[in-house]
Amino acid sequence: MTGAAGPLLVRDRAGFARARAAMTGRVAVVMTMGALHDGHASLLRLARARADHVVVTVFVNPLQFGAGEDLDAYPRTLDADLAVCAAEGVDVVLAPTASEVYPHGTPSVRVSAGELGERWEGASRPGHFDGVLTVVLLLLHLVRPDVAVFGQKDRQQLALVRRMVADLAVGVEVVAGATVREPDGLARSSRNAYLDAGARAAAAALPAAGERAREAAARGAWADVVAAAARAALDVPGVEPSYCVLVDPVDLREVPTDHAGPAVLLLAARVGGTRLIDTLDLEVAPGAGPAPSGTAAPRSHPQPEVP
Ligand code: PAF
Repeated sequence: MTGAAGPLLVRDRAGFARARAAMTGRVAVVMTMGALHDGHASLLRLARARADHVVVTVFVNPLQFGAGEDLDAYPRTLDADLAVCAAEGVDVVLAPTASEVYPHGTPSVRVSAGELGERWEGASRPGHFDGVLTVVLLLLHLVRPDVAVFGQKDRQQLALVRRMVADLAVGVEVVAGATVREPDGLARSSRNAYLDAGARAAAAALPAAGERAREAAARGAWADVVAAAARAALDVPGVEPSYCVLVDPVDLREVPTDHAGPAVLLLAARVGGTRLIDTLDLEVAPGAGPAPSGTAAPRSHPQPEVP
């Protein structure tokens, strides 16, 4: 369906239904809010490898922005997005208006993200994940894909989409794409465009925090020490940490202090007025093991290195 001219751009439901009817074989979707960058491009390649047709949605979803957030300022770069999609062999770009997505106005019936949606990112952005899941479910209904590809950087979003698909028996395979990073390790994000030079330099504290956590985890440090090592790296001028925690990879609850095995560092910070998030998969090496009850903990408990 892709021609030399690039993907078919569709702005409305009826046009998309016609394009969808012409697709045979497996269909993959990558949902985006536009301002596509290398991170999105890697998701498009993953989608391309898994399906016969790739659909990209571009929609800045008002439901997931709170009062005072950057809904109006969010970058809208459709021509550049189409060029990225053309380079990655995308078949159809669905870039609907808000009235096409929500023809009856702001939906009064929504998906509730539940308790997981209220922690971490959700604690700072009440209702954010309800808005995300509502539009994700709606777009899944419109696109009817076999595969939906989401980035690992937005780990809580990914976990909630997986949970919604399981809880509500949505027939789609969810595939996670690895985080793509700048040369200094900063995770690619459309919001990086907001950072001026000073903020951009300060933002290097986020990947540095991940690196400190990885080192501590490799030493077999306790979970609270791993998280503290990361927090120490965020303690630099211009960075206001929001949360920085070591959590279970599936339910995103904080792991116990004596945890060994896979874990995920979740962090968010405001840098130069821009909220940035990052996530890192870690393997916490086994230490001396948890303390027998009533005794002092024998496990190695190294202190975080303060930069
Ligand atoms: O990750 C995003 O860009 C958005 O949250 C999504 C999944 C496109 C829903 O609006």
